[in-house]
Amino acid sequence: MLKCVLLIASLVTSSLAVKKIPDHFLLGTGTSAFQVEGAWNEGGKGPSLWDTYLHNQNATENGDVACDSYHKWQEDVANAKALGLDFYRFSISWPRILPNGTLNNINQEGIDYYLNLIQALKAENIEPMVTIYHWDMPQHIYELGGFLNPQFVDYFEDFSRLVYKLYGSYIKYWLTFNEPSLICQGGYGMGIMAPGLLLNGDGIYQCGYVLLKAHARAYRVYDEEFRAQYNGQVGLVVNFQWAEPASNSTLDLEAQERYTEFELGFWVNPIYLGNWPQVMIDRISNRSKLEGLSRSRLPSFTQEEIEYINGTHDFFAINTYGVYQVKYAPEPAISYPSYTFDLGVDIVNDTTYYNPKGVRDMVNYISQKYQPNGIIITENGKPSEDTLEDMDRINLIRDYLGNLIDALVEDKVNVFGYSIWSLMDNFEWGSYKSKFGIIRVDFDSPNRTRTWKESAKWYQNVIATRILDD
Ligand code: NOJ
Repeated sequence: MLKCVLLIASLVTSSLAVKKIPDHFLLGTGTSAFQVEGAWNEGGKGPSLWDTYLHNQNATENGDVACDSYHKWQEDVANAKALGLDFYRFSISWPRILPNGTLNNINQEGIDYYLNLIQALKAENIEPMVTIYHWDMPQHIYELGGFLNPQFVDYFEDFSRLVYKLYGSYIKYWLTFNEPSLICQGGYGMGIMAPGLLLNGDGIYQCGYVLLKAHARAYRVYDEEFRAQYNGQVGLVVNFQWAEPASNSTLDLEAQERYTEFELGFWVNPIYLGNWPQVMIDRISNRSKLEGLSRSRLPSFTQEEIEYINGTHDFFAINTYGVYQVKYAPEPAISYPSYTFDLGVDIVNDTTYYNPKGVRDMVNYISQKYQPNGIIITENGKPSEDTLEDMDRINLIRDYLGNLIDALVEDKVNVFGYSIWSLMDNFEWGSYKSKFGIIRVDFDSPNRTRTWKESAKWYQNVIATRILDD
């Protein structure tokens, strides 16, 4: 009798905890060209900024072979099919199609590689979602100045138009740039990503200014030349970790607001509301004055640019990996230009803090403030040790996805999809040690053998049943 009561009780609890994933909600995984393709100098490909950056450092780990997806793409598609993915997000390597980055030299082998991949995905009913720029800039474009050269916008326009022309009939979802803040702060501010420039407090804004104009140009090209025919959608992928104030003090509340504007508003305010967030304009201009400059380190958009950039979105794509707490950082003495000082916030580095409900708050915030047509989480996941028993990943995905489903079903936020980073272990921008994949890749075997982890089996079941268990 007691057993029976316990069984019924446990059935009731578990059925309460089970979440139904609506049928129209898209479930996917992602990768990027540099992190998986390898074949860095094969098939007519030119060098990318990342190839050169790592080769110049004689880095022991690099992207030369990676997961060898240039040769093993059919196996990747077979895995995507077996998982039952609604969509697969990948990026196109610019120097694989345009070896020196310009239309002077168009590489047919590179074109065919992506055409084959896209057609194979379509044949399996998997929606290809394409990132146009996932960090592997052609080396030649970098030598022309990269994101510090205003002409970058024109070269990016040429490349975008070309890929729309080549693949537009197949593609519903285009993403212009992946994670502008990592590109600009990592590459042109803190010097921790290629090209490794240390222009903290300057580079990030100059790069951001050019990048946002390039995004807008690529959006407008699609809008004006391709939308009528192909009816796809174009967005920018931002990265942002939601943060809560460490306390209810006014200073911490303001710090949280400032953090959100500098980290998220920086990239989406110009696109959704026009211009940089006011708090950025004010703070950077004040600090620049105190540093003895007659102009702000943050470049100003002209009125024409504001109007050109504003409205260049069809959906809101966001990568998110955690939830932080932030608190006010006392104003430091003016010493040197610094993004961190401009921001004036301390990120509480408590590694035990785990609050996936923050993602539900985050999409509610985005929905209210920017009113996008739809929101998609283009990356979420976690690195783990080299193990097939990745229960920690399953738990995290269940928590985040569950909160998103709550946002969709209970709060009526228009979240339309979720993508795990990543389909497979890959090159994590400097090392193979961070394992983000739901499929293991054996980097010691010449064959780059793929093996499903527990998380892949679990995700396959979630997709098949559209039920999120507890
Ligand atoms: C951000 C990037 O888009 C991706 O390239 C990277 O591997 C993951 N997040 C994990 O760090």
